[in-house]
Amino acid sequence: MGSARYEGRTAIVTGAGSGIGRATVVRLVGEGARVVGCDLNGDGLAETAVMLGDLSPAATLLSGDITDQGFVDSVVAAAGGTVDMLANVAGIMDHFVPLGDVEDALWDRVLDVNLTAVMRMTRAVIPGMQAAGAGAIVTVASKASLGGGSSGVAYAASKHGVLGLVRHVAYFYGPAGIRSNAVLPGPVETGIGASAAPTVGWAMERAVLSMATMGAMAAPDQIASAISWLGSDESMNVNGAVLLSDGGWSSA
Ligand SMILES: NC(=O)c1ccc[n+]([C@@H]2O[C@H](COP(=O)([O-])OP(=O)(O)OC[C@H]3O[C@@H](n4cnc5c(N)ncnc54)[C@H](O)[C@@H]3O)[C@@H](O)[C@H]2O)c1
Repeated sequence: MGSARYEGRTAIVTGAGSGIGRATVVRLVGEGARVVGCDLNGDGLAETAVMLGDLSPAATLLSGDITDQGFVDSVVAAAGGTVDMLANVAGIMDHFVPLGDVEDALWDRVLDVNLTAVMRMTRAVIPGMQAAGAGAIVTVASKASLGGGSSGVAYAASKHGVLGLVRHVAYFYGPAGIRSNAVLPGPVETGIGASAAPTVGWAMERAVLSMATMGAMAAPDQIASAISWLGSDESMNVNGAVLLSDGGWSSA
């Protein structure tokens, strides 16, 4: 890494207890940021702190559910009310459930976590960024934001929806100095497999067929590097972008 581009900056990272969110915390702290990370999984956050080692004092790690507005507010308060950067990373899969089989509980939870919580977290940081006249928001969407073949219906709808939110923020708040961009990973070696195991076998089989051209799965830090770049001044002319980081899967 070696860069100090986040020196003196504060960032919030959701999903900080596993996978891409954890890699983002480690990378941003390594680049000089003070980070407030949050996750449902307290044990996962403790592992993130261990990975940070000597740098762990730079991270405040809070356990809670980002679908809870009170928790969202407490995360922003822990960051001091105003942050330079927000990384919306937390998300869950939907077991590849097709529309005809989807139950309301699964639909509601996936939309709550992947879309509504992103809206709440983003809404909570906008006033501070407006006052500062600057801020960067990076939201992790998915290859499933662009098509129907890599997940079930709830995940696809949530990840398509999140692109609308990302572009809305870019358009409405760009003039206030706030940038909003999306990173769209392909397959990444993380803990998300727990909510990806298919309940309907053929749905997953079709998705895997389309991955025939892929090489190895990406490591979480390969996505964190894109998040870090989009959150830094090095991408200062980039707003409303949809950045695929899928090893070329979508070009097949
Ligand atoms: N891994 C992949 O192949 C892949 C591909 C495309 C997109 N993504 C996206 O990347 C993001 C990160 O996923 P990951 O692969 O690192 O998965 P992961 O399961 O390793 O990490 C996600 C983290 O989010 C947390 N989380 C889930 N719901 C939460 C909630 N309500 N409140 C707080 N924390 C919550 C989980 O506890 C977990 O620690 C997600 O948005 C996911 O949709 C992942």
